[in-house]
Amino acid sequence: MNTKKFLKNMTIEDKARLLCGTGPFSIGGFESAAGPVPELVMQDGGTGLNHQHFFQRLMKEPPKDINPQEGMHVFFNFYEPDKLTKREKEIREDIISKITEYRGGISDAPGCYPPGILLASTWDPKTVYETGKALGMEASVYRIGVLLGTPNCNILREPRNGRFFEGYSEDPFLAKTLAPEMCKGVESMGVSSNVKHFACNNLEINRTNIDELVSMRALREIYFPAFEACCKVASTLMSAYPKINGVHCHENLWLLKTVLRSEWGYKGVAMTDWDSCKGSTGDAEAAGQDIFMPGPWDHSDIVKAVEDGRLPVKDLDTAALRVLELIEKFSGVKKPDGLTNSKYRKTGDKAAYNAAKEGIVMLKNNGSMPLKKNAKAVFFGPDHFLDSGWGSAEVKTDRTACLSEELGKLLGSKNVLKDDIEAFRKGATAVVIETVSSGESADRPDLKMNKKTVSVIKKLAKNKGKGKICLILNVPGPVELDGLEKSVDSIFAVFYPGMMGGKAMADIMTGAVNPSGALPCTFPVRYEDTPAYLCYPDNLTCNYGEGIYVGYRGYIKRGIEPLFPFGYGLSYSEFAVNSILGTRNGSKFSVSFNIENKSRTDGKTVVQLYASKRKARTSRAPLELIGFAKPMIRAGEESEVKITFDKKELSYFDEELGRFLVEDGTYDLFLGLNGCEDLIPAGSIYIADGSPELKCGPSWKMEQIMKEKSLTDALKKDCAGAGIPFEGLAEMARWFPHMTFAEVSREPGKYKEFLRACKEFKEE
Ligand code: BGC
Repeated sequence: MNTKKFLKNMTIEDKARLLCGTGPFSIGGFESAAGPVPELVMQDGGTGLNHQHFFQRLMKEPPKDINPQEGMHVFFNFYEPDKLTKREKEIREDIISKITEYRGGISDAPGCYPPGILLASTWDPKTVYETGKALGMEASVYRIGVLLGTPNCNILREPRNGRFFEGYSEDPFLAKTLAPEMCKGVESMGVSSNVKHFACNNLEINRTNIDELVSMRALREIYFPAFEACCKVASTLMSAYPKINGVHCHENLWLLKTVLRSEWGYKGVAMTDWDSCKGSTGDAEAAGQDIFMPGPWDHSDIVKAVEDGRLPVKDLDTAALRVLELIEKFSGVKKPDGLTNSKYRKTGDKAAYNAAKEGIVMLKNNGSMPLKKNAKAVFFGPDHFLDSGWGSAEVKTDRTACLSEELGKLLGSKNVLKDDIEAFRKGATAVVIETVSSGESADRPDLKMNKKTVSVIKKLAKNKGKGKICLILNVPGPVELDGLEKSVDSIFAVFYPGMMGGKAMADIMTGAVNPSGALPCTFPVRYEDTPAYLCYPDNLTCNYGEGIYVGYRGYIKRGIEPLFPFGYGLSYSEFAVNSILGTRNGSKFSVSFNIENKSRTDGKTVVQLYASKRKARTSRAPLELIGFAKPMIRAGEESEVKITFDKKELSYFDEELGRFLVEDGTYDLFLGLNGCEDLIPAGSIYIADGSPELKCGPSWKMEQIMKEKSLTDALKKDCAGAGIPFEGLAEMARWFPHMTFAEVSREPGKYKEFLRACKEFKEE
């Protein structure tokens, strides 16, 4: 289709229709004056295909005169057919054959993959890319042109958030490095990725009408970077439900036009979240929104907005052309040639396994892991994982690997038991899985563990004998362990690990795989310690009062020790860092060092590079992640690692000047092998070519100047020469520390010595 020519022949009404969903998960699929517009299907798929949506599509032509109740019953028990009646089983068979035909012969269930939080725990861009590729493959098989939520890169700000697990990290650098890999992977399969929810969808409470009051600096430094990075790749973006500083995201001109289009140059399509637009569609369109979902959405308001002059035809055309191009590019997506059922299954299993294996985080190990060859394991409570959260990130599948079965394969099935306290006392390892379910439209009430798990662990701890206790946290984010960490011998976080989580965990427990995941978010001792604790809303306003101090930035700034810090994750190997060396090449800095594996086990480790500005002019986080690497080092060997970063990673967003700036001066660098609380000094760098706006001179604040002896000495000389009392200036600095020298002195040009000292100024 020649989209430009096609658009010319469309009526205003056709164009308006193009921008409105035509089905719950589709656009297009109608006759226009220019000819037929193909249908483009969109479905949730950040962790795999959302079966419910596909089911809804199937129900458009219901098999076997099925009624809605039967439909629901079949849907919820699709992979547990024993729960179905005879007639429902027949309906199910009918659906399976329809699905198989629709999918060009692929008969296996969709795969379930780890969510953002576990993908980020891998600290491995390649793993995220491969997962995205597998998700793209899933979408192509189901002929889904736009895979929603690939990724959901909202920052992990408030751990009670029901959708915490979907997001990547509390840290913008980690999120912006990993999340675009998901987009790349999906798009590599000829499917449109979709980055959501732009921006600040950080809570589920009152999510459609909450007003989030967020400082410009926090938006720019914390909440936007991952979106900006994804927008370089993603063909579509979904706006968020909430309001930011008073304006709903889907009609936020500043967000959608100024930031997204003008500043970032985003060329893709912006769509609403489902049913988020409650006001005038025409006005939201004029503010920069392209598509209104779900369908059928009444397009008459867009036509009216053009007639009223609220929506310029030019803007309508721009949006319509973007949507036409999207339809043209992605509506014909289909199963890749040569993709057989077995290839489909293998590819998905491999990607899901690899992501879980790289992401699972070992949080405690007193030597009880890995299990010895003939060890026994006893499950107290569930023996398998809940492999996804609920809501749009929920995936139903029958491909889940059960942990106890997988352990049985490795230890021998007779060595894997259930509820056998005697075996535990005699030396078997008790395995306790804590499952906290979470999902869309509700936040967790607190960060507590289930009472049942707590009592099981307490009981086991009392009856320990020779046994060891392994606690596995299958949780959507941080939980309070309330001292239980002391009673157990090992702890792992698996974060809804997807269909292969059981297999990956069994391999880690038996030592076939050495754990290498690291936390992408901080685990607090108590919920009250979390930076956003005081800001949890009880009405329709959420004040992001912690500002830029999200996650570890807030813990370190307040001197609050977490339970497990950001970046923390243990290994069966022991690593050490040697010979650290820094180099600079233009705006690029590199830190090279050797990592030694001092153990007898091959392993990977996540090395993090943090920067800390000495004597920062503005309030800054004491540490900011600016780079990382995840090398694999053979037992007893040493390997050279180099982490490179750009000078712009040292910048902060200056609210007064409205841009990112790099301050001159010293930045201390630190390497973290075990998260941000256990750091190895890695030297410091001196920036003398920072942003001109911040150069030492009359634009410096009085308090800044008064702290520097060379500057005050020069001022004293100038004052003496001009017969002005220096005390006058010092007094001004006391009363107006935030005024600049230019404002206070009025004629800074007169202070020659001071100006010279500024030129020569070099921070100690
Ligand atoms: C969710 C989105 C999702 C959409 C479609 C909304 O309620 O917030 O994340 O993509 O539904 O299912």
